[in-house]
Amino acid sequence: MIRRFYSRGIPVIVGARNFPTPPCIAPKNTKAAKRSPHSKAMNPALETLALAFREHSDPAAPALFLGAEPHPNLLRATAWQPIKSRADQCVAAGMTMADDPQGKFPTVFFLPGKSKEETLAGFARAHDLLAPGGMLIAALANTSGAARFEKELSKAAPLLFSVSKNKCRAFAVGNAEPWDTSILAAWRSLSEPRLIPDTTFTVVPGVFSVDHIDPGSALLAQHLPPSLRGEVADLGAGWGFLSHAALGKCPNISRIDLFEADARSLACARKNVTGPVEFYWHDVTSGLPGKYDHILTNPPFHTGQARDIGLGHAFLTTAARALKRGGSLHIVANRQLPYEAHLESLGLRPRLLAETGGFKVIAAM
Ligand SMILES: C[S@@+](CC[C@H](N)C(=O)[O-])C[C@H]1O[C@@H](n2cnc3c(N)ncnc32)[C@H](O)[C@@H]1O
Repeated sequence: MIRRFYSRGIPVIVGARNFPTPPCIAPKNTKAAKRSPHSKAMNPALETLALAFREHSDPAAPALFLGAEPHPNLLRATAWQPIKSRADQCVAAGMTMADDPQGKFPTVFFLPGKSKEETLAGFARAHDLLAPGGMLIAALANTSGAARFEKELSKAAPLLFSVSKNKCRAFAVGNAEPWDTSILAAWRSLSEPRLIPDTTFTVVPGVFSVDHIDPGSALLAQHLPPSLRGEVADLGAGWGFLSHAALGKCPNISRIDLFEADARSLACARKNVTGPVEFYWHDVTSGLPGKYDHILTNPPFHTGQARDIGLGHAFLTTAARALKRGGSLHIVANRQLPYEAHLESLGLRPRLLAETGGFKVIAAM
């Protein structure tokens, strides 16, 4: 369904008929260009974004894609993607990546992440990267609050169009007229790094446990044996809490390698953890580059909004393969997560160290 919006009786839509049917703009001769968009399950919000682009945007104009994922019709956009596995998919599809996009773009596409703050801060960021007369097109699943965010965006600037498809919504605003300055300033301020209350830990919107120390991780820190020594890995290190705690508690640790998929979290960890540490923007499910005396993890068990125990299991499998002989793995998990059986299937012996407040701490060797 496509809805058009009118300002003072004048259609402000960049309409489907304003452009000839755009050709597929995938670069030729890439694998992704040849692959059907339906050859594997594609994010439905991405499909809806691409549909809105096809209907409403100038296919020849340079574009920036915030939160990029590869789609055959969007491969020419410059891509920003902080999540390692998705960034790797963009690279494999031939997209040009930007760690910190600068300049001005006639079109900015935006697939927001999970949090409200991240989404609103992303709207302001997109605004600041738009060329004069440019257009921002954002898309979200209905279950991720598409209607709510469309309404929020329309408070800053009049909507140009809205497309509902695939249980998702894509919506657009332009910058031919200035956006509401106070809303824009409030959204910009959301992206500023800030401290977790009563701590010295720096975070930014979108990272795990953004306004408090995760109680599960705090429990694991409490039960880490001070005798841990040698080379340690922190899998899914987030903004660095566990590594910081381990270095403070275990004087014989010679180095901790922090592995984290989200570049924003890792940037915070660089500020939060000092000492003998190395930082890796890395997808833990792909394995580790070395072997370790001890491994610490509070494994993720969600992919996007969906519960994904397989991700937690993949973390444990990676950890088991990367332990040196005689090494140990320390895990915290929600009480109901069935990790013990998986650890046993990997040849490890799990031992319960603590169980409280909905969490359990397990040591496995
Ligand atoms: C439950 S959080 C724990 C964060 C941190 N250790 C703490 O205690 O606050 C899990 C972390 O794993 C990261 N993550 C998710 N999937 C990942 C993957 N495939 N590879 C590496 N890190 C991943 C998330 O970004 C998140 O920071």
